[in-house]
Amino acid sequence: MSTPSGHRQLDAQREHWQRILAASADRFGTDASTPARAAAQVLRDMGATRLLELGAGQGRDTLFFASEGFSVTALDYAASATEAITAKLEAHELEGFVEVRQHDLREPLPFPDGSFDACYSHMLYCMAFTEAQLASLSREILRMLRPGGLNIFTARTTEDPDWGHGRHHGENLYESGGFIVHFLGSDAIERLAEGYELMAVDPFEEGPLPRRLVRVTMRRPDWG
Ligand SMILES: C[S@@+](CC[C@H](N)C(=O)[O-])C[C@H]1O[C@@H](n2cnc3c(N)ncnc32)[C@H](O)[C@@H]1O
Repeated sequence: MSTPSGHRQLDAQREHWQRILAASADRFGTDASTPARAAAQVLRDMGATRLLELGAGQGRDTLFFASEGFSVTALDYAASATEAITAKLEAHELEGFVEVRQHDLREPLPFPDGSFDACYSHMLYCMAFTEAQLASLSREILRMLRPGGLNIFTARTTEDPDWGHGRHHGENLYESGGFIVHFLGSDAIERLAEGYELMAVDPFEEGPLPRRLVRVTMRRPDWG
């Protein structure tokens, strides 16, 4: 992945997602995902209100969190994603609860330290990031969580049936059907938890394959 051509292929995923999300309005459905529902319960219990959602896609979970009363900031690098979320928020009269921004998460997060009570992302950590880029992202999330804040993310794992198949792009990155996926092993999850308390790693399945994922809950220490 250290080669420039390797990075070009990872960079090209942005245009790929732009096209995919422009082609169908609800690629992942309209209902909130199971991990979003589970996360909302945890966030309500901890009294969280300020939520950052990363890789929000077409907003199935964004709308759910907003309708549950959270104040959401939703980021994605595809304009077709952020435009879709904005249109849906207007249609549901939820625009006052959500700030939507186009942002490439390989870059630092555009927020001051301690801005959010929690960060949530579904199938973002398994996108076309190198492990070094994922480590930077985890550090950035840690920086802008308040002490005691949570980073809840899901990712496909090395137990997934697609792991090891298709074109290899280094590390645990494999391409199938035009999508590059970074499958996370338990060792990688441990490394990404550096600076956090690793609270839980809950396996679950999604879709007809089925994809095998984990929902990871990591906490910024109160003293951090
Ligand atoms: C698998 S989709 C999941 C979308 C949404 N979380 C859901 O579950 O419906 C991954 C999303 O991450 C976005 N994404 C991938 N890499 C990104 C990056 N480097 N910066 C920002 N967004 C990214 C894609 O555009 C896509 O919308």
